[in-house]
Amino acid sequence: ALISMRQMLDHAAEYGYGIPAFNVNNLEQMRAIMEAADVTDSPVIVQASAGARKYAGAPFLRHLILAAVEEFPHIPVVMHQDHGTSPAVCQRSIQLGFSSVMMDGSLGEDGKTPTDYAYNVDVTRRAVDMAHACGVSVEGELGCLGSLETGMAGEEDGIGAEGKLGMEQLLTDPEEAAEFVKATHVDALAIAIGTSHGAYKFTQPPTGDTLSIQRIKEIHARIPDTHLVMHGSSSVPQEWLDVINQHGGQIPETYGVPVEEIVEGIKHGVRKVNIDTDLRLASTGAVRRFLSENPSEFDPRKFLKETVSAMRELCIARYEAFGTAGNA
Ligand code: G3H
Ligand code: 13P
Ligand code: NA
Ligand code: ZN
Repeated sequence: ALISMRQMLDHAAEYGYGIPAFNVNNLEQMRAIMEAADVTDSPVIVQASAGARKYAGAPFLRHLILAAVEEFPHIPVVMHQDHGTSPAVCQRSIQLGFSSVMMDGSLGEDGKTPTDYAYNVDVTRRAVDMAHACGVSVEGELGCLGSLETGMAGEEDGIGAEGKLGMEQLLTDPEEAAEFVKATHVDALAIAIGTSHGAYKFTQPPTGDTLSIQRIKEIHARIPDTHLVMHGSSSVPQEWLDVINQHGGQIPETYGVPVEEIVEGIKHGVRKVNIDTDLRLASTGAVRRFLSENPSEFDPRKFLKETVSAMRELCIARYEAFGTAGNA
């Protein structure tokens, strides 16, 4: 059944687990996520980005998610709109039947320019008024996503600040977070604690302090009833980088957020964990490997099936690590 994000995250908070929110663009991702949720008995958050709407078209995405709900009626599903850049974008998603929207007022409508606090409060409050009147949940964002190592927002999608960010932007301020939640009534808050979008988060192997766990604790202590969201939470599996590079790919050395650090965040109030890049890497690796090992195959179902199983295994691993398994 389709449920609101508030409902799903309230359960996660009560029982102390986290939920991966996977981005969807196509049938194979949707199927991988649902099959993984089915075998692990996990609730599902799927999210559609502006890029996904551009790729598949909003009606196709909507029906893809509704088809998943129809085929797996026993699994609770949140249909979430990722990174809305204005209340108008959120309004269209609400009309389309999304049960949750993100109003990302930390950046302007171009998805690139950091905004001021007053602007963020204004657009977020407007989105919340609209969404709550329709029983739809809202995720806001305060602070700018960016790597604590490089100060950069990350490169691989349309959402991210341009140029190098300062430390005060890279870590969400706990007092400001409390004010923001009071002023906007968001259900969930995306915080800046050292992650960035895309595959190029860190240039050095992780040494255990990729995230500012300290900052997560401080924010959670200040707003214990607000569900915290971590964007840019792909772990960038080295095994998949190797598969890609062993079969004709050329991805330079790069590192993501270790799963153990995410698990630590979940102990301190993180409930929604956004993952897109890891599914992209797994499916690209699966396609490259299959086609290079089976050069005479040309039926796309053969290599697309490989992407489904690669992504399904990754989803299963996250559902198990985050404690999502067993909670559907
Ligand atoms: O917001 C970040 C996601 O990775 C979406 O990326 O806009 O390329 O689909 P996308
Ligand atoms: P990754 O690029 O780390 O997968 O993050 C995705 C994300 O935050 C989508 O909103
Ligand atoms: Na989001
Ligand atoms: Zn994001």
